[in-house]
Amino acid sequence: MSDSADPLVLFMPSGRRGRFPRGTPVIEAARSLGVYVESVCGGRGICGRCQVEVAEGRFAKHGITSSGDHLSPWSAKEARYADKRGLKPGRRLSCSTTVQGDLVVDLPQDMAINAAVVRKAVDTRQFPRDPAVRLLYVEVSEPDMHAPLGDLDRLFQALERDWKLARPTIEPHLLPHIQPVLRQGGWSVTAAIAHDRDDEAPRLVALYPGLKNEAYGIAVDIGSTTIALHLSSLLSGQTIASTGAPNPQIRFGEDLMSRVSYVMMNPDGRPQMTAAVRGAIQALAEKVCAEANVSPADIIDCVFVGNPVMHHLFLGIDPTELGQAPFALALSGALSLPASALDLTLNPGARAYLLPCIAGHVGADAAAATLSEGPHRQDETMLLVDVGTNAEIVLGSSKRLVAASSPTGPAFEGAEISCGQRAAPGAIERVRIDPATLEPRFKIIGTELWSDEPGFVEASAITGVTGICGSGIIEVVAEMFLAGVITEDGVIDGRLAERSPRIVPQGRTFAYVLHETPERRLTILQTDVRAIQLAKAALYAGIKLLLGKLGNPTIDRIALAGAFGSFIEPRYAMVLGLVPDCALEKCGSVGNAAGAGARMALLNRDYRREIEDVVTRIEKIETALEPDFQGHFVAAMAFPNKLDSYPELVKVQPLPNRDSAGLIKAAPDGGENGESAAGDAGSPRRRGGRAGRR
Ligand code: FES
Repeated sequence: MSDSADPLVLFMPSGRRGRFPRGTPVIEAARSLGVYVESVCGGRGICGRCQVEVAEGRFAKHGITSSGDHLSPWSAKEARYADKRGLKPGRRLSCSTTVQGDLVVDLPQDMAINAAVVRKAVDTRQFPRDPAVRLLYVEVSEPDMHAPLGDLDRLFQALERDWKLARPTIEPHLLPHIQPVLRQGGWSVTAAIAHDRDDEAPRLVALYPGLKNEAYGIAVDIGSTTIALHLSSLLSGQTIASTGAPNPQIRFGEDLMSRVSYVMMNPDGRPQMTAAVRGAIQALAEKVCAEANVSPADIIDCVFVGNPVMHHLFLGIDPTELGQAPFALALSGALSLPASALDLTLNPGARAYLLPCIAGHVGADAAAATLSEGPHRQDETMLLVDVGTNAEIVLGSSKRLVAASSPTGPAFEGAEISCGQRAAPGAIERVRIDPATLEPRFKIIGTELWSDEPGFVEASAITGVTGICGSGIIEVVAEMFLAGVITEDGVIDGRLAERSPRIVPQGRTFAYVLHETPERRLTILQTDVRAIQLAKAALYAGIKLLLGKLGNPTIDRIALAGAFGSFIEPRYAMVLGLVPDCALEKCGSVGNAAGAGARMALLNRDYRREIEDVVTRIEKIETALEPDFQGHFVAAMAFPNKLDSYPELVKVQPLPNRDSAGLIKAAPDGGENGESAAGDAGSPRRRGGRAGRR
């Protein structure tokens, strides 16, 4: 029992605090406040996983004067550990030191013990940890003829005695190894216990002789274009290395619907694609392990996210139902299973967890992005957009969340564009157009120089200027609009041909010459602008539907996720009307949010419960069934939008034909300039149906 005279202990970075009687072990104080402190050895002072640091000084905000002297003196266990393994100055073992006065305790984030060298820091974000698979060291009593309890049973007894662990189940593959491992370890062993859900029995998944002080997990984002894999220490939480590779399913179909079609047309299509993605993940896991000098056998937990089609194909499920209404998922809830069932050769007992899918077209990747960005944890209204060949959209706040997907197609990734290409060296990624001369300058991937800077020709000589990638397409179309080369309705203005040789006739329309050499001419065609209009109108119409469902709230923050979101400049996303108006500083990239969410679920099982709960509360909107979609789509064909104003954007970026409030200026004749936005463009349905774009 504690009273007000007891010392006050504050744990950082969580900020949790409480009063504890003098003599309370620091690790116990932490745990009683729900602060997770790792421990493999159970307080024997041999694993070093429980290290803490005490902040020195007066913390007026918290009313605490903290000092290392407010801990019990250096203990024998600490001295022994420091002697054997080394302990950084200021570090203490929280299992072996007690509270003696007020304390501010920091949990250091560099707890890589015996760990592989961290080759590259991939993401410095730190998440509170409580992994679903833990290492527990125990000392088991030796066999006794007079008490003939089996070796495994005595191991379970020791786990219950030292770790309060209810009798676990055991993976069958371990049965032949129990006796040799116990003897090899001199009756000291480390058990890897998978215990994802409190309402399920814990599971013994691996057993090591002696003290095993490191274990790893992988978090995998299975994108339709790219697979990204992160290797993290389950004991320190550090991401050790990351890697990625193109999804080999691309050879069966560029976009999701063509892969679904491939399954429908080919009896072997589903197994082929399942084998391809599993093989790619295995290869990536081995690659990342080799890079980090880690054995794949030390990977004991995995988390996977992906859109519904990727999710189903990875699980070996036929995705045909996802290609047509009502877009039925075979399973939508989270799934936990052995990694070996997914043909992954890691630790034989490794577990795999798949986040839940939100709907038939909004997948576990969107769930992971939601977990990472946390719109459900805040009062502000957040718009979370993950743009790929299919945009997944989540909108809302702690009060209410809605989600949908929009069939944007591959235009944003450079496909469907005459000179489009994937982001690769030589691809134009940045563009500026002088509104006076209509002359462009650009940057390509592979050099930092702009095309009008000295040295560009030499710097680009190896790759050449090969095409234009997704971010370049957004910028060139936005710059063409800002320079007046294209009208609000997306028509390349042929009258400018008199003024600039960059505007050239192309059949019955006009084109803009972005780059020309004797060998190559890169032009933006009218059809290219149309492809961007169709893609962005589909995205925006989806967003508008969701906004309508929530009563059209003001958007406080826009998070652009995914590879595309990383490269697109928010200003251009708004100039083109991909997203609604918002203060520019509140709109930005959040990187691979799906991968970050997967890592969170890997490192803390509470996050798994959190997203499982949130997903049940997200309202799913099927854009194809909403009568307002078409109207929103037609208005969104214009740049930035026929009906919606952009008052925040025009504060920093004046728009043609818009006044200072971002409203459309009345045309002198009261009509619209240019041709009809929708007149020749068609609608997503006319372009092959809702599912056809998915
Ligand atoms: Fe292992 Fe403290 S818990 S050293």
